[in-house]
Amino acid sequence: MTTGLSLSPNQRVRQPVSLLGAGGAATALGVALTTAGIAISSVWSRRFDRAQALAARLPGATASADPQTAAERGALVVLAIPDSAIAPLCARLNWHPGQAVIHLAGAYGRELLAPAAYAGAETGTFHPLQTFAGHDDPAAWRGVAVAIEADPPLAAELVALARCLGAEPIQLAPAQRPLYHAAAALSANGLVALVGVAANLLSRATGLERAAAVQHLLPLLRGVLANLEQLGLPRAATGPVARADQQTLERHRAALAHEAPEWLALYCALLRAMLPLARERAADDPERVVALDALASWLADVQSSGEVSS
Ligand SMILES: NC(=O)c1ccc[n+]([C@@H]2O[C@H](COP(=O)([O-])OP(=O)(O)OC[C@H]3O[C@@H](n4cnc5c(N)ncnc54)[C@H](OP(=O)(O)O)[C@@H]3O)[C@@H](O)[C@H]2O)c1
Repeated sequence: MTTGLSLSPNQRVRQPVSLLGAGGAATALGVALTTAGIAISSVWSRRFDRAQALAARLPGATASADPQTAAERGALVVLAIPDSAIAPLCARLNWHPGQAVIHLAGAYGRELLAPAAYAGAETGTFHPLQTFAGHDDPAAWRGVAVAIEADPPLAAELVALARCLGAEPIQLAPAQRPLYHAAAALSANGLVALVGVAANLLSRATGLERAAAVQHLLPLLRGVLANLEQLGLPRAATGPVARADQQTLERHRAALAHEAPEWLALYCALLRAMLPLARERAADDPERVVALDALASWLADVQSSGEVSS
């Protein structure tokens, strides 16, 4: 990945923008674009009421009843629909030279937009490394990496668009997109899944409702993020693995094996992922390195035991 995208100070941003889709990403993008002064002409969604609801929040935008009308109303058409729906919708619409169409999917390149390119439209990708679950604070775009793939002149326009939002345009080799998106999903969706499991265990241990358990985990999560932001890796790695505290980990293993055996394999996999960070931290501490070697052997034994694989 490189950040070598350049932008001339007078780079125009193609407008108006037409949004095909009115879900989390379209809402976040639409609100941020209008806040940045970019015109949105049209919104389409399969459910007209959803298109109307979003259009009502974007000054100057109207809801379109069909995607072709919406596409024709935009100089830049954004396909903000689920990844699997992009290629079929793109193939269903008529495109022409002078139009530009982009999608927001992280794991795919411009191949999903091949019918538009064949018809002479410019095509591109614009994937924000951010999660949008209904909140639409334009500040959520600040400092966010946006993976852009397009040919000139659209590429420079998309760079300008990202910068308008306070985001950081990046380039990504098309072949690397699935790995790039796996990293994004792991840290965003994986973290939510992990908190779901942790909240469940905390509820069992304390009798708290899940919502209250999540609230109690939030300060801890904020502390982790602050450590990552201020100290980076590997220094943000704390806890019993970083301390090579096998005795404490053995207590965790026994508790999980007894109370929640379904999560023991996940717990062990995360310990394994923590080990290289702990080793990095312990590079100048030979005693800790020896203890970490012993911990790695213990973990291998636990992982190969029937307890984990069952
Ligand atoms: N949300 C995020 O955090 C995020 C972040 C980065 C990138 N993205 C990308 O943004 C795109 C949209 O994701 P999203 O999270 O905004 O999705 P979403 O909230 O589920 O919204 C989906 C939108 O697409 C429409 N839609 C659903 N199925 C469709 C189909 N088969 N054909 C045509 N339209 C369909 C929905 O219409 P109705 O509701 O009216 O049926 C709705 O307007 C995806 O490519 C995703 O990878 C999302």
